[in-house]
Amino acid sequence: MKILVLNGPNLGRLDLRDSKIYGDIDFAGLTNFIIKSGEELALTCDVRQSDSEVEIISWLHEAADKNLPVIINPAAFTHYSYAIRDAADMVTGPLIEVHLSNPMSREEFRHTSVISGVADGTIAGFGPNSYRLALIAISDLMKAAK
Ligand code: DQA
Repeated sequence: MKILVLNGPNLGRLDLRDSKIYGDIDFAGLTNFIIKSGEELALTCDVRQSDSEVEIISWLHEAADKNLPVIINPAAFTHYSYAIRDAADMVTGPLIEVHLSNPMSREEFRHTSVISGVADGTIAGFGPNSYRLALIAISDLMKAAK
């Protein structure tokens, strides 16, 4: 089963961001970690990153059209993109929101997620492991749906 793992703005430059918050991993390392974690659960992860809201929306449309499960780290779009929320709402398979950091323990503008209300769940604060935990959740949801 293929899973789309979508990543929003500035995550492509992860290794250049505040290492106290995001650690030292770069996006290539994060991608390898996600793919390996998926393989351990017999899931094929298609990991993508874009700084463009338009591109992320088109990937969510693709997931909706192909009935693919989605893991999404919308990055800063989390806090204000109603367009990504509406596209996420059209996804028919499971959709899990993830964050490397815990936005609730950071600046107040990060305390709001406009995405959470249309996600099956949110996993935040565990670094790259947030994605691994989301993959376990998707695997369990898909087994339960069988
Ligand atoms: C983030 C948290 C967001 O607030 C921030 O804008 C990001 C990354 C995270 O993974 O912790 O870019 O989504």
